[in-house]
Amino acid sequence: MATTTRAPRAMHHEGRKPSDETRSAVVESLNRRLADAIDLQLQAKQAHWNVKGPNFIALHDLFERVAVNLAQHADLLAERAVQLGGVVEAVAQAVADRSELPRFPARITSGRDHVMALTNALSAFGGMLRPGIAEAEEAGDPATADILTEVARDIDKLRWLVEAHAGASN
Ligand SMILES: [Fe+2]
Repeated sequence: MATTTRAPRAMHHEGRKPSDETRSAVVESLNRRLADAIDLQLQAKQAHWNVKGPNFIALHDLFERVAVNLAQHADLLAERAVQLGGVVEAVAQAVADRSELPRFPARITSGRDHVMALTNALSAFGGMLRPGIAEAEEAGDPATADILTEVARDIDKLRWLVEAHAGASN
């Protein structure tokens, strides 16, 4: 850190290229968040398929929306990693190894349990995105910071939509 001089912020937008070292750190971070995004997408599908109860249709549809949005976010994160010269590691085994999300509870069926589990997962993912935004800014990569911010904003919204069902009698 002491050996580099940070360019003024405005210069970031004039095409200053991050070094190979910072680029590979950003790629590594994108791969970690990609694993979380794919894990979360599958957790939402698990909830979409298994939920039962009086709010079935509302929750079934909401959980599908979460899964669809997470698939789009995974695509954004993966393609950014490749644009930076990285290799994406997105097969099931890599995702299982890398994901930092809490394990989704097995064998739950109620709406309330699924709402709680998915709210926890969305909160955890949102919390892990934020340090990456600052890291990417520090690395002189505002485009990656922007992508992570876009994902974080949608995760906040999805969490709000899911958590709103927590008080329902389901
Ligand atoms: Fe479906």
